[in-house]
Amino acid sequence: MTKTSTKNPYAFNGAPLTRKRKANDSLVLSDKKKIQPKNQKHFYIESYGCQMNFSDSEIVASILNKEGYALTETLEDAHLVLVNTCSIREKAEQTVRKRLELFNGLKRKNKELKIGVLGCMAERLKHKFLEEEKMVDMVVGPDAYKDLPNLLREAEAEREAVNVILSKEETYGDIAPVRLATNGVSAFVTITRGCDNMCTFCVVPFTRGRERSRDPKSILEEIDQLANEGFKEITLLGQNVDSYLWYGGGLKKDFSRASPLQQKTAVNFSNLLDLVATAQPKMRIRFSTSNPQDMSLEVIKTMAQHNNICNYIHLPVQSGSNAILKKMNRQHTREEYFELIDTIRKYIPHCAISHDMIAGFPSETEQDHQDTLDLMEYVKYDFGFMFAYSERPGTMAAKKIQDDVPEATKKRRLQEIIDLQRIHSEYRTQEFIGKTVCVMIEKSSKRSFEFWSGRTGQNTVAVFPKENYKLGDFVDVKIDEVTSATLIGKAVGLSKSI
Ligand code: SAH
Ligand code: F3S
Repeated sequence: MTKTSTKNPYAFNGAPLTRKRKANDSLVLSDKKKIQPKNQKHFYIESYGCQMNFSDSEIVASILNKEGYALTETLEDAHLVLVNTCSIREKAEQTVRKRLELFNGLKRKNKELKIGVLGCMAERLKHKFLEEEKMVDMVVGPDAYKDLPNLLREAEAEREAVNVILSKEETYGDIAPVRLATNGVSAFVTITRGCDNMCTFCVVPFTRGRERSRDPKSILEEIDQLANEGFKEITLLGQNVDSYLWYGGGLKKDFSRASPLQQKTAVNFSNLLDLVATAQPKMRIRFSTSNPQDMSLEVIKTMAQHNNICNYIHLPVQSGSNAILKKMNRQHTREEYFELIDTIRKYIPHCAISHDMIAGFPSETEQDHQDTLDLMEYVKYDFGFMFAYSERPGTMAAKKIQDDVPEATKKRRLQEIIDLQRIHSEYRTQEFIGKTVCVMIEKSSKRSFEFWSGRTGQNTVAVFPKENYKLGDFVDVKIDEVTSATLIGKAVGLSKSI
């Protein structure tokens, strides 16, 4: 995976969720050093892949806390090591396997240590880890985290501890997540689980099951709680947030069978955005991911109406070729995508837009690839996340279409996409020069402790001298210089725009 942005929605790869606090680090660990009983059991957790996995690990932490397990940042202190895994590309799975080998090395020294695989690989490989490879003690799919206490007991008793059952109902709406590697000001709030779209390249519908939405009441309560704890920004999460639909529970695909009253009183994504933005006027609201096929005019209008909904849409397109879009089972054409972009820009003139793009999907011709570059030229995305196609066993593409684009060609096309994106990113950041933008402070800048780092509403990273501003402040910053990914400026005062 390659990115041209420092803010990568899929970038939790490898970092344990429990980072060590450095002297000058603004990181707030929710696991503040508490005096712990002598026999305290500890768990250590690493999360790979998408934001959803990161968010799920916070649910897992909450469940384990209730079981008496405390979080540790030190592998050697752990009684239980968990890896929340990703299956989206082959490379992600290889990375996880390497980590599991390392954890198994620890287990040889400490026989009591239990190792658990969570998330998409658990779902995809099910018994393989446990039976054939004997690499782990526990295998827990994304809908089975509430079964963890029971599975832990099974593992302790050296019995098979597997639960990969996918659910029609589970949204974990009743679990208050324990915020892990948090900066104390921005948090993820999951609103949907699973995906019904069946893009032919994608393993997610198989590993995360059918789409279901979370009760808006529990979403609003969680956000209210976050506001009370001092959080300033939330990101509503789902594989396809625009498809959110609450009609009293159950799968999205069963909506047509709901009662007339349930259908009439259903809450869609635009309603939810409006509810959240109205309830929390002092909080910034973001959301991800938007599948173009489900983005409605209503959502765009709701964004335009509320100052506190960020002017930024992550709108993966995957390819600019109609033939490839069709083979990918994406439910729109490039022309419809252009129309959507035009509509967004009509209602929200300075809306930032980012993309996901796949290079070298099976049968992709040079002309298809040129169509992708041409589409990028039209949109001039602010940034993007770009990948070479990776065949995933069990998907429709793997079954039906031969992975026939040579690796070298995939790589070359990917590089061309990346190079063009870099030009567009720079074009977009240049637009900020001389302008004053509202930035929410998230952390100390990596380059200099004298500078704060935060993001604009458009999701662009901005750095500026700290002066007396503090973490979580919304600050108006006048931009003097830019790189292709970062704005550099000086604060002019606290922002009144939020
Ligand atoms: N729900 C999102 C996508 C989630 S997966 C959507 O609406 O599109 C994140 C990204 O990984 C995808 O957008 C896609 O660009 C990439 N991806 C998924 N499967 C892939 C595969 N088999 N090979 C390469 N990239 C893939
Ligand atoms: Fe995957 Fe397509 Fe859903 S990319 S997550 S099947 S929208």
